[in-house]
Amino acid sequence: MTKINQASPYVEKSNVEKSSDVVWHQQSVTTEQKSSLKGHKAVLLWYTGLSGSGKSTVANAVEQKLLARGCHSYLLDGDNVRHGLNNDLGFTDEDRIENIRRISEVAKLFVDAGLLVSTAFISPFQKDRDQARALLKDALFLEVFIDTPLAVCESRDPKGLYKKARAGEIANFTGISSVYESPTDAEIHVKTESLSIEECAELVVAALIEKQIIKA
Ligand code: ADX
Repeated sequence: MTKINQASPYVEKSNVEKSSDVVWHQQSVTTEQKSSLKGHKAVLLWYTGLSGSGKSTVANAVEQKLLARGCHSYLLDGDNVRHGLNNDLGFTDEDRIENIRRISEVAKLFVDAGLLVSTAFISPFQKDRDQARALLKDALFLEVFIDTPLAVCESRDPKGLYKKARAGEIANFTGISSVYESPTDAEIHVKTESLSIEECAELVVAALIEKQIIKA
């Protein structure tokens, strides 16, 4: 019998008894067959960067460009997902790990549907980003580092959160009171300080063309 952990039904806890009757069902239509209907490959673009670095802005601009090229994309955005699926999670290390785990699983489903998927989350820990990559197995996973120095993010402060964090009104704020581990070998490295949003988006689209994920 399956015992559901009521306190946290989503997390696979050691005290959850897993039923041996739940078996993986192999589907006969492949990801490649589904994405070929769209005329492009399926991929997960994993945007990572500090709050206010421009992840959502660049990811949105890339989506616009993909749409104009007739590509089918889907964007999972940190703030939006935290309003729904992950509205029970905060910003402790444990909650951030669970946030990224759920996003990875959801993104995997969208990739399996044959789409160009983007996730825009701070995702501060390298280990979690590596786990997301591992979860995607053979599917394409591209880490996109939206590289904006903390001082620049803080000067932009679009939501006034850095000001609040400095004043001690927000705990565990990334870059201030919680760590951000910068990627060391992201496939796409976007230094936003010296580029316009348009140029950042072009850089990502160019990488997708170069990697033969979308057509030139
Ligand atoms: S993550 O660390 O778990 O990947 P996520 O990308 O989902 O974070 O959410 C980050 C967004 O939540 C930020 O852009 C900001 O708007 C908001 N936020 C609220 N509190 C915090 C906090 N303590 N640290 C970072 N971001 C926060």
